[in-house]
Amino acid sequence: MAYNLLKGKRGIIFGALDEKSIAWLTAEKVHEEGGQFVLTNAPIAMRMGKINELAEKCGSKVIPADATSLEDIENLYKESMDVLGGKIDFILHSIGMSPNVRKGRDYGDLNYEWFLKTLDVSALSFHKVMQLAEKMDVMNEWGSIIALSYIAAQRTFPDYSDMAQAKAVLESIARSYGYRMARSKKVRVNTISQSPTVTTAGTGVTGFNIFHDFADKMSPLGNADAVSCAEYIVSMFSDFTRMVTMQNLMHDGGFSNSGITYEVIDYLKGAENGSSKKK
Ligand SMILES: NC(=O)c1ccc[n+]([C@@H]2O[C@H](COP(=O)([O-])OP(=O)(O)OC[C@H]3O[C@@H](n4cnc5c(N)ncnc54)[C@H](O)[C@@H]3O)[C@@H](O)[C@H]2O)c1
Repeated sequence: MAYNLLKGKRGIIFGALDEKSIAWLTAEKVHEEGGQFVLTNAPIAMRMGKINELAEKCGSKVIPADATSLEDIENLYKESMDVLGGKIDFILHSIGMSPNVRKGRDYGDLNYEWFLKTLDVSALSFHKVMQLAEKMDVMNEWGSIIALSYIAAQRTFPDYSDMAQAKAVLESIARSYGYRMARSKKVRVNTISQSPTVTTAGTGVTGFNIFHDFADKMSPLGNADAVSCAEYIVSMFSDFTRMVTMQNLMHDGGFSNSGITYEVIDYLKGAENGSSKKK
């Protein structure tokens, strides 16, 4: 059921690759709630052509932009304001990529060129998006900017590798730029720390299925799925959350505040019984 929460609002959504992407599902929800937006992704991701299906469904224009390129972002803003007919109210940064994770490099054997690429794509791009939005005066007052994070910014998950550092930088940028944006434009900036979610970026991490299931057992509400994440993002773009800023918001079914759960205890008891039977 839609509530018209975003009627009259205009924005830009980065990172819809396919129908599993958090950005894809968010675009669908924003559309349902009456928001208008431009879709963007790296030119290389356009080759899949899927994003055009989404654009057609939502009546949106697709403008390619590599989020590490200042020139591309500048062009994206100019064209978006033309297409949407004015300044914008929301931006979703739903971007992450680590060449080290993709190519299975061990954390003790990282390629540092790739590490810098991870930081540029997954964290500095967020700074670039906001720095240009501020310089080009792209945002309307009381607008909302969101990026997606993961709890590996605070705790160690062995196979998350250099993405953990990227998420820590991303969350820090949200606080520092959130301060500036609040003062200069009355715009809020937050990160949403999402449960493990079955998407192209998510499943690229080694052992994804195991930590997806572990997180599910460790979360009293279960893992938050991509649709509920999209709904949360819509609420963060709506006027009902206008005083929330500079936060890392946990959207994880309770995972981050759980020490142990009965689901994990039962699982471990089962494993223990199994191993004692073998002896
Ligand atoms: N899936 C999970 O388990 C999970 C959990 C927590 C947070 N997140 C975060 O959610 C966000 C979205 O990821 P997703 O899970 O929807 O996966 P996804 O693979 O669908 O989305 C990642 C997107 O980043 C885009 N991208 C990569 N390099 C880019 C560049 N240079 N310029 C512009 N775009 C670029 C990709 O094309 C893709 O659309 C990421 O920040 C990810 O780290 C995901």
